[in-house]
Amino acid sequence: MRKYLIAGNWKMKMTRDTSVALVNKLLDELEPSENVEVAVCPPAVYLHDVGAALRGSHIGLGGQNMHAAPEGAFTGEISSGMLKDIGCQYVILGHSERRQYFVETDADVNEKLKVALSVGLIPIVCVGETLEQRESGSTAEVIAEQIRGSLSGLDAADGAKIVVAYEPVWAIGTGKTATPEQAEEVHAQIRGLLRELFGAETAATIRIQYGGSVKPDNASELLGQPNIDGALVGGASLKADGFAAIIAAAK
Ligand code: PGA
Repeated sequence: MRKYLIAGNWKMKMTRDTSVALVNKLLDELEPSENVEVAVCPPAVYLHDVGAALRGSHIGLGGQNMHAAPEGAFTGEISSGMLKDIGCQYVILGHSERRQYFVETDADVNEKLKVALSVGLIPIVCVGETLEQRESGSTAEVIAEQIRGSLSGLDAADGAKIVVAYEPVWAIGTGKTATPEQAEEVHAQIRGLLRELFGAETAATIRIQYGGSVKPDNASELLGQPNIDGALVGGASLKADGFAAIIAAAK
């Protein structure tokens, strides 16, 4: 059985005070669960404070990005080892905003992914098509290329350690969610690609999250789909009540 993973992607939002207040509220409201794992991915500068509030709890911590080099002269960047050092268990890689605004390619994601795995971080690898790609009928092709490119060279043992997030770009921050059927269609395709890459046994264990305007009122339907194993939540993860309601839907 795959355990749901509900992760909050705070992006470049929140302050130090609101960050700590949010996780303290989550800790008050949420009981640990057998079938749902929860994590938050705050801005890097708040990882320390949020991590301190979460220490020893059932809520995990993740970074939103990392550099592929272990260290070096890369002004403004953060390494995988630094994320590990500050207490992260997860790192989001290849988010569409990174791909769009920072020109990250599948090859970049692939390089970061291998480094993340080498330090023991769980990478959440994001893929997803734009509206234009969906409307021109190339969704399946785009997803296949992103999955094969981002996961290239991984063996089944490494494959078993990753999380994939399907995030249609047109659904991110727009209030437009993929219908459960649209999402499940792509999730099933991704499961098939993972089977080709890692074999059926490993593919069956890999969590595939859906992301893109997930909210308390659409979470149950999405999470009820056979190949949807969690959610990567942006806007709705910034309020404890909304995020807790999505987690409750997973439970
Ligand atoms: P959203 O963002 O929930 O605000 O659409 C999701 C994401 O970008 O991970």
